[in-house]
Amino acid sequence: MRPIDTNMRLSQTLFGATFHNPVLLAAGTCGFGEELEDALDLEALGGIVTKSVTLEPRAGNPPPRVVEAGNAMLNSVGLANPGLERVCSEKLPWMREHLSSIQVFVSVAGHVPDEYWRIIEGLESVGGFLGYELNLSCPNDTRLGGLPFALDPDALRVVVEGARKLTDRPLLVKLAPNVPDIGPVAEAAEDAGADGVTLVNTMPGLLIDIASRRAALGAGSGGLSGPALRAVGVHAVHRARACTSITLLGVGGITAAEDAIQYLLAGASLVQVGTATFADPRAAQRVVMGIARYTEKMGIENVQDLIGVVQGTDRPVPVSGGPR
Ligand code: SIN
Repeated sequence: MRPIDTNMRLSQTLFGATFHNPVLLAAGTCGFGEELEDALDLEALGGIVTKSVTLEPRAGNPPPRVVEAGNAMLNSVGLANPGLERVCSEKLPWMREHLSSIQVFVSVAGHVPDEYWRIIEGLESVGGFLGYELNLSCPNDTRLGGLPFALDPDALRVVVEGARKLTDRPLLVKLAPNVPDIGPVAEAAEDAGADGVTLVNTMPGLLIDIASRRAALGAGSGGLSGPALRAVGVHAVHRARACTSITLLGVGGITAAEDAIQYLLAGASLVQVGTATFADPRAAQRVVMGIARYTEKMGIENVQDLIGVVQGTDRPVPVSGGPR
């Protein structure tokens, strides 16, 4: 295997594992790694989060599944994935062989808590990855008879508490941006046993084709991502940092190192690059190199010295209500 060009300024130990740098590929934007191996050097990253795995294979939603939305992207992919069985027999062995020097989180999705737990049991029996990211916030695949779990702290607690009993691996919970205040939701995840939270998933959105008067996406509404979501994500990280002490992962609108550094300053230890990868498969690698240049230029010994040190944000931003 090729030796890793470890830049000690960017390296961190989190969840008992070494992350060579703080940049991961976000769930749903890199498949299971194999799909992107010819397009970028995966081992130059801190890690990846896989496409969400469901109990059964999912074909996904009708096309179009992705449309441009100004400075953003709207998607409703519908969690298309090969399902637990094939992930265990094909994807995990590939990742074990090819991604052993970076950290892998397997994203898990379901309609009811029991589905999450059965997937975790299945993945545990195979292993070959660091931890889980529970996708409790997909806007395109809501739980039976309800909203995504991340919109209801009590429902979130049930899933996370059950998952916690099944694994000692790091357990991340991916939260939704469309809540009045994300702080208490992050707190609920921490109380239930999560080791970290990922902030934020896409924001529900709708675009209409005015010629046909139909929704632009085949499935109707979808989730908004890309640069338009960045300030929302950075704010969410800052709020979660004030309310919890677990590890935070920032995602939303990161296209360059400057964007990632904002998330670190707000309190994220790791960041994820998502939508930018669709336009430039090497975007995440550019972000790593840009953070390295920034730390060198600013004389920062380790990237951890940047985490949560934002200044001038003491005046609380009202998250709901307020004077009329
Ligand atoms: C999708 O597959 O529809 C998107 C997944 C997500 O936003 O969590």
